[in-house]
Amino acid sequence: MNLLPQYLFDHCVYKCYKDYKVWLDIGCGKGDFIFSQSIYSKEHDEKYCYVGSEIYLTAISKMIRRISDNNLNDIYIFPHDIRYLLSEEYMFDIITILFPDPWHKRRHHKRRIINAQFIKSLFSHLSQQGYLIIITDNQSYYENIQLLINTENIKYNFVNKDHSIISRVFDNLNTVFYKKALFNGNKIFSIFLQNV
Ligand SMILES: C[S@@+](CC[C@H](N)C(=O)[O-])C[C@H]1O[C@@H](n2cnc3c(N)ncnc32)[C@H](O)[C@@H]1O
Repeated sequence: MNLLPQYLFDHCVYKCYKDYKVWLDIGCGKGDFIFSQSIYSKEHDEKYCYVGSEIYLTAISKMIRRISDNNLNDIYIFPHDIRYLLSEEYMFDIITILFPDPWHKRRHHKRRIINAQFIKSLFSHLSQQGYLIIITDNQSYYENIQLLINTENIKYNFVNKDHSIISRVFDNLNTVFYKKALFNGNKIFSIFLQNV
């Protein structure tokens, strides 16, 4: 049975959750991070809706199976290139990008999803006071993202290091690429910004 339709993120879902905070995880893989955030929301009686965006079919099908097996009703999937979703008028309260594909070789840097246009697009879909969170273990990507943010005339505040959103993210950070980074002893770089 094709289970995907009932978990697809679209305008209907967005409208149904208008009183909820919407958390978008870009390149969510098989959804480990939003699953643990969803559990956190239930434990803390929060009104959140989670959207995982992913293009890798095997990961999408694992995520669907898991949502269905666990009877979750607050996780939805956008199974296409995130740029299509960002061409629509959705607004998000939190956007996470965890370990975006680094494209290590210099000549492949142009394939990195986070570029000037993408950063501007993310901020235009971030609600007032919303958070943009990017985590990577690739130093050159991290430095490049910081440069883009500073040169694109974006209005934001850095999130204070004691803010609960930081511990909330790191306490639930359980993704495949985070585990790989830890296993390899890589340094983790993070960017926590709040839209103003
Ligand atoms: C390095 S993996 C990280 C996966 C997961 N966030 C983690 O931390 O384990 C990057 C993911 O981004 C997905 N991805 C790449 N380009 C994308 C795009 N344009 N839209 C949505 N997902 C994308 C890839 O399929 C891949 O699963």
